[in-house]
Amino acid sequence: MKKGIFDFGKGVRRTMKALALALMLVPCSALAQEENGFKKMNVREDFTENGFQWFRDAQLLAAGNKEKSNAMTIGWGGIGTLWGRTALTVYVAERRYTKEFMDQSEYFTVMAFDVADSKVLNYMGTKSGRDGDKAAALGLHTAFTANGTPYYTEATMVIECRTMYAAPFDPKFFKSEVPQRMYSNFPAGVHTMYIGEVVGAWKK
Ligand SMILES: Cc1cc2nc3c(=O)[nH]c(=O)nc-3n(C[C@H](O)[C@H](O)[C@H](O)COP(=O)(O)O)c2cc1C
Repeated sequence: MKKGIFDFGKGVRRTMKALALALMLVPCSALAQEENGFKKMNVREDFTENGFQWFRDAQLLAAGNKEKSNAMTIGWGGIGTLWGRTALTVYVAERRYTKEFMDQSEYFTVMAFDVADSKVLNYMGTKSGRDGDKAAALGLHTAFTANGTPYYTEATMVIECRTMYAAPFDPKFFKSEVPQRMYSNFPAGVHTMYIGEVVGAWKK
């Protein structure tokens, strides 16, 4: 019998099946490109901030899920590489409401806001989510990445991380007077270090 042009051999059919399966398994990009005005970025190439200054300028940290989430201002943090992964570290004091969300969530986001939005960083850094929904009070719109990680559509940059390591500082390992002095009078309690692998990043 004559073969039609679409009667591929067994080998070709198998390859096509494998290709279709591979395409189905390609992970969905966390935030669809262009969604909410964001464009996907590669932090290793497109993050142009000074890493020594960026956290000092204050950023926003958010964690939670579609039912409940919270965010707070952070001024401490680090960016770099760990265990071969692009990593971002944040430090959350024991009594922050956000810590409860950080401990329950696999992912977190760090967001940048325009300087013009300093109201957001001030409010998020001085009020607690325990006393009310801070995002709602500020009129921020909460959206979620494909992993269900909260972010605000008003941010100018969103970096999503998957926590690889979390541990509170242990005073017995303090090596200088700097942390000793800090915690000698710090009612919010010792900070927990959360080291996240950067799994997605977007900017406007
Ligand atoms: C500029 C600035 C930077 C801050 N940086 C941190 C930080 O790195 N870690 C931390 O635990 N708290 C930090 N805070 C304090 C928290 O943002 C603040 O206590 C906040 O109200 C906690 O909110 P929450 O209880 O809803 O989590 C900072 C506050 C400000 C204003």
